[in-house]
Amino acid sequence: MSCAHAYLPHDGGEGLFTLGAAEVTFGRGALREVGELVRALGARRVALFTDRVVAGLEAVDRARRSLAAAGVDVEVFADARVEPTDASFLDAARFAREGRFEAYVSVGGGSVIDTCKAAALYAAWPADFLAYVNAPVGEGRPVPGPLPPHVACPTTSGTGSELTGIAVCDVLALKAKTGIASRWLRPARAVVDPDATATLPAAVVAASGFDVLCHAIESYTARPYTARPRSASPALRPMSQGANPWSDLGSAEALRLGGRFLARAVADAADAEAREQMMWAATLAGVAFGNAGVHLPHAMAYAVAGLVRDFYMEGYPAHEPMVPHGVSVVAGAPAAFRYTAPAAPERHLAAAGMLGAELRGASPDDAGEVLSAALTGLMRAARVPVDLRALGYAEPDVEALVGGTIVQARLLDNAPRRATRDELAGVFRDALDARGPR
Ligand SMILES: [Fe+2]
Repeated sequence: MSCAHAYLPHDGGEGLFTLGAAEVTFGRGALREVGELVRALGARRVALFTDRVVAGLEAVDRARRSLAAAGVDVEVFADARVEPTDASFLDAARFAREGRFEAYVSVGGGSVIDTCKAAALYAAWPADFLAYVNAPVGEGRPVPGPLPPHVACPTTSGTGSELTGIAVCDVLALKAKTGIASRWLRPARAVVDPDATATLPAAVVAASGFDVLCHAIESYTARPYTARPRSASPALRPMSQGANPWSDLGSAEALRLGGRFLARAVADAADAEAREQMMWAATLAGVAFGNAGVHLPHAMAYAVAGLVRDFYMEGYPAHEPMVPHGVSVVAGAPAAFRYTAPAAPERHLAAAGMLGAELRGASPDDAGEVLSAALTGLMRAARVPVDLRALGYAEPDVEALVGGTIVQARLLDNAPRRATRDELAGVFRDALDARGPR
């Protein structure tokens, strides 16, 4: 399953894969070490990125105390936006450029960490915003070189952003959600402290937990790295290499842990074991998708989140409609996996088994249905919206949803089955209403 021999060589296909990851420090109390880690990277003056909500939490305090104790000067940027935009990225970049920092520390969820990556990028390598943004929305120009070191400290157990070289944002003028992807954006260090999630509302644990499960399933079922054309040089090998033996390890364990602990972590904030195990699952899934890449459910999620009209979720900012990232991914995921399963039925079935589904009697033809049912069952148990209708979408929205998805070429190409426009419309129609009992 996670053996390199499972990857059959293709004529002219890639024969190499790269193990990329930040150096990770994991465990309760890890935030105590941030200051010394920054010092060891040679920095005395850093920017600390966070957002207005997290700024008031214990995690930021701990990081600041640790930095002060290590003799590091800190300037705080607390205006990172939940669901960042090109405008909010550029505000953060202005702060970074003016401060001439030697290193960056981010403390927060994926939005904060992504904002810090983008700020560091545009401060170090100024360019028009769309220059580095993924094509076809942007120019997809490669990031020219390294950035000052970034120590990322996640406070949610979900996005895995601390382990990837991806920063996601809305491009407001184009009404498109997209991102920047470069190995130079990957933080140098990840400090993952499960204590930072102790005060998270249940809805946030649920949404970010399903993001973890989707990272793991999508990495595990992505087009194998051997199916990609061989890269002419190491610099041209994409971070999203497709499924590979390294990402398989992280995906498999993340799925086993998620199947076992997600419902518990949502049900009881005091269940420290469940929250710690979900943090570890998020870390493993982050390593996996930082190397394999995600595919169709995340491509669809960009459109689902970007076109929101009137959905609000408890536990998230209520001043504007917003679908939390993990919910936007998982609501369409059962339909997406029904579509991709025929291209890699064994892997879809195995993923369902790791989540805890009963596989006895299941044939390859059942793979999509078995995996989707396992996921939907977990969604119902955690009380997250199970389909796109629950997020306010209906049949007349399908065309716009397809339009927002078809531009996510990097993700669609990483799927085991490449969807056409018509097929995407079919997947979105299927995703409007969950199967099984309400
Ligand atoms: Fe995600």
